[in-house]
Amino acid sequence: MSIENEKAFEEFLNQQQDEAWASALTNLLPSIHEVDRNATKIWFAFYPVSLWRALKLSPDAESLMKRLLMQGDFYLKDQIDSSHRFLYGHRYWPEVKRAVLEHAANFTDAPGALLAGQIKMVAGDAAKRAGAPESLLSGITAVAFMTVLQAGFDAFKSSQGTVQIDRKHAKKSPEQILAERAKDDSQGLFGFLKTVDKEWTVTYNENEAGARFKLISGEELASAAARDRSRDWRSLDARCVEGPIPVECRAASCGTCWVGVLGGAEKLSPVGRLEGRRIKEFGYINTDEPKPVIRLACMAQASGAVSIVIPLWNAQFGKYLNEKNEGEGLEAEATEQEVSN
Ligand code: FES
Repeated sequence: MSIENEKAFEEFLNQQQDEAWASALTNLLPSIHEVDRNATKIWFAFYPVSLWRALKLSPDAESLMKRLLMQGDFYLKDQIDSSHRFLYGHRYWPEVKRAVLEHAANFTDAPGALLAGQIKMVAGDAAKRAGAPESLLSGITAVAFMTVLQAGFDAFKSSQGTVQIDRKHAKKSPEQILAERAKDDSQGLFGFLKTVDKEWTVTYNENEAGARFKLISGEELASAAARDRSRDWRSLDARCVEGPIPVECRAASCGTCWVGVLGGAEKLSPVGRLEGRRIKEFGYINTDEPKPVIRLACMAQASGAVSIVIPLWNAQFGKYLNEKNEGEGLEAEATEQEVSN
């Protein structure tokens, strides 16, 4: 019986169209703790359901990936326990995983059941197990639901379900993390006299001591990252030619350098016309906000300390998906016309 219920749960997730996922996220965001609100938005931008579906339904996913100039590791099945390390709620992953498995084992598909309602219910159960406020688990529970869909229920079930950050970082409170994100570097005793030579810290992994580089005020994130020679970046990620942020063109035309902004988005230059247009064409985010949570690091200039997260892949898929959807829309219209004639 439980296997049938698990299958029904997976099927329920599969039936949710892209719009249903987007509206569930919008519905959940106000109830997600501030420490994870941007992180949850970023995670959903890093693992777009539309792209996952396009690859799944493609008769030749390999060729499609090439066509979309995809590089790096997009698939969640390879990173079930780790893709969400940058969420505060990652600390509660074992409890969330157990609550999702229990929910699936008892799942019965009530007609009209809403995705957001299901996520809230499971987040509430997981919060009780963890003895933590539900607001800290809502984002990570939404992530778990999407991970079940994209990785498959069996793979989700058999993953280790362990926390992947060290104890020292896991012990931090949400308030500590928010305070660290809000803090700007001291510029010394005469800092108020400095104009162009101010330096700011860019943190690219909040869970690792030393995962940061310095940026000269007004510089773009990618140029500052390129001066970081502290590691052999290419051996860590083949896309990284210099520094921790992968870059190719440095001119908003390749899409390699996209990053999520966990903290300090307001200290980045507003999105210009070129970045705004290209980031939509790449498919990374569809917004006209001047300071969104997804940016191109070769365009975004910082005037204060920021905390970012670097995705494991890049591609140019927004234009392709739009054209595909328009094509399907035209096909459906033509079929409707044929039927009515
Ligand atoms: S490096 Fe090509 S878009 Fe930024």
